Formats: sequence, structure tokens, C-alpha cells
Amino acid sequence: MLKTKDILDEKDPRVRAENTEVKFPLCDEYKSIIPEMLKHLRYSQIERLAKKYNLRPGMGLAAPQLGINKRFFVVCYEKSEGRFEDYILINPKVISYSEEMIYAGEGEGCLSVNREVEGIVPRHARITVEAYDLEGNLIKYRVREDLSIAFQHELDHLNGILFTDYIDPNNPYKNAENMREI
Ligand code: NI
Repeated sequence: MLKTKDILDEKDPRVRAENTEVKFPLCDEYKSIIPEMLKHLRYSQIERLAKKYNLRPGMGLAAPQLGINKRFFVVCYEKSEGRFEDYILINPKVISYSEEMIYAGEGEGCLSVNREVEGIVPRHARITVEAYDLEGNLIKYRVREDLSIAFQHELDHLNGILFTDYIDPNNPYKNAENMREI
């Protein structure tokens, strides 16, 4: 299984490097690592397993965080207690997004950022994204609220951007009044 130590820290230059598009058919390496990424995220959100495998809770993981500088990410979203939805987005493109902005009141976290960072990360309340699945089918996703935040966080990873980049340490709650807290 993918271990905590396999996830690169923010200081690793590969987290900030350029990521290129994935070619189809998908190579065996990505075909096998994608389910591993999802398994890691799912286990990390189940307390007993997170403890057992020493995992930090996370709902998304992007290829560059594993040192793979390619444009794909996964999200494992707990829709309701114990019910998880897996998302695989390869070569994603944002089609549209809402004007309305939101931010996660609890703040965002990242498996590559091993420290607490307080502050507001402005996100669109809703976005529409097109991406390929494992078989190379183009799929359209319309997501909102916390899932929209997760998608935007992971899309940023594909452009070498971390959530901490948005936060001004001198004024971490800047512009809060212009956004809705979720
Ligand atoms: Ni992250």
C-alpha cells in the first residue's frame, strides 16, 4: 500500500514542477497507482485504519505529490457516514465556475503540508470540470461546496500551486466578508 512516506513534502521541488498531460492508453504504472492512491485516502478517513497504518486524513491526492509530474488526481469523498465516492480525473479541464466564492471554515489541509496553516483559501462554490477516466472516456463533473473545494485544491496541485500560496500570513482572514464560509 501507498505509505505516508511516499507522499512528498511541500519542500520537494517535484511538488512545484510542471506537469504534463497523460497519454492513452494508460501505462501500467498509473493504472496500478491510481487505486493505491484511492485506497490510501479511504483508509486515512477511517479512524481505525488511519491509526493502524499511521495515515494523516486526506480526501485528495495529485500525481505530483508522489513525484509523478503528470496531470491527474484522485478524490475520495465521504458522502455520508462510511459511504465513500471515488473520483479519478485525468487531464482535467475546468469548463466553468460560479462567481460565488466560498472557503472552508476549518481551513484546508494537504498531505504534502505537514504543519497547521490558518487562513482563508478562496474557492468557487461550484465548478464544472471535464476529465478522462482510466479507460480514456471523457466525463463531465459538476461539483459544489466541499467537493468543489477539493477539486480546486487538486487542480492547483497540477499547476504546482499549494493552498498555502493563497494565505497572507500577515492577514490570513483577508476578504472573508466577500465569501461564504462552509
Ligand atoms: Ni494537497
